[in-house]
Amino acid sequence: MIELVDVSKSYRKNIFGGQRTEIVKDVSFRIQAGETLGLIGASGCGKTTLAKIATRLIKPTTGQIKFDGADITTIKEADMRKKRQHVQIMFQNPESALNPRIKIYDSIAEIMRIHKIHQKNSSEERKKVKELIEIVGLQEEHLLRYPGELSGGQVQRAVLARVLSIDPKFIVADEPTSMLDVSVQAQILKILKTAQKEYHFACLFISHNIGVVKAVSDRIAVMNEGVILESGVTDEVIDSPKTEFTKALMNNYYSDFYVELDEVGKQVS
Ligand SMILES: Nc1ncnc2c1ncn2[C@@H]1O[C@H](COP(=O)(O)OP(=O)(O)OP(=O)(O)O)[C@@H](O)[C@H]1O
Ligand SMILES: [Mg+2]
Repeated sequence: MIELVDVSKSYRKNIFGGQRTEIVKDVSFRIQAGETLGLIGASGCGKTTLAKIATRLIKPTTGQIKFDGADITTIKEADMRKKRQHVQIMFQNPESALNPRIKIYDSIAEIMRIHKIHQKNSSEERKKVKELIEIVGLQEEHLLRYPGELSGGQVQRAVLARVLSIDPKFIVADEPTSMLDVSVQAQILKILKTAQKEYHFACLFISHNIGVVKAVSDRIAVMNEGVILESGVTDEVIDSPKTEFTKALMNNYYSDFYVELDEVGKQVS
């Protein structure tokens, strides 16, 4: 579904040219339909940059990106726009994902309108929105409100409904639950996993929280300073980490705090 081959990204250090800083170095991975790759690493190691490259919001300096069988490394913006209808990103801060002046109903329907899937306010559109809020666990009364009139968890549910509105093939979730408390995080992650069973999208799930990544990922990649240090099946990486860096990440993990998240993986599988 989505594949990165030896992708690197560097920026010029200053406006006078010369030296460049490498943010992402020779990263390769592949995510199949219906599969989640968890990307974990310390703050500033290049996770968001990598997510932007995978969705072609930015171009890599070198390397190749393939989406749905096609090379999209140097695709024109107009052509990418068509493909991007099936590519969605969820960011850390749900409030910024929705326009504060647009009611929840219209925010959920917006992408379908942009791509002319249904007529605005048609019965088909309403039916689809109703279906989506049922999946994410919102009530009809929430649809008439503005984002500021919902809780953080409810806003993130609305974001998820919007993301699911156009048969997504690839979803990047960049720390989508880190602003929420643990039990709400667990609910949102469960919805994401359940939706993946139904819609079969590939997912790149980014977090610095190993408990969260463990709950949703089939495979894990551990990143540090722009490099993937190790990757593999989730339980294998967690049970027998190969690098000191991953071991150190694990030490922060085992606590009661994550018991609730552990349940997510069990309940959905
Ligand atoms: N456009 C840019 N120009 C120059 N440097 C950049 C640019 N975008 C990001 N960086 C730098 O790249 C590094 C990685 O940033 P990135 O946002 O990918 O990290 P991250 O792993 O997502 O961190 P966090 O966990 O805090 O979200 C940072 O040092 C950042 O300052
Ligand atoms: Mg980030």
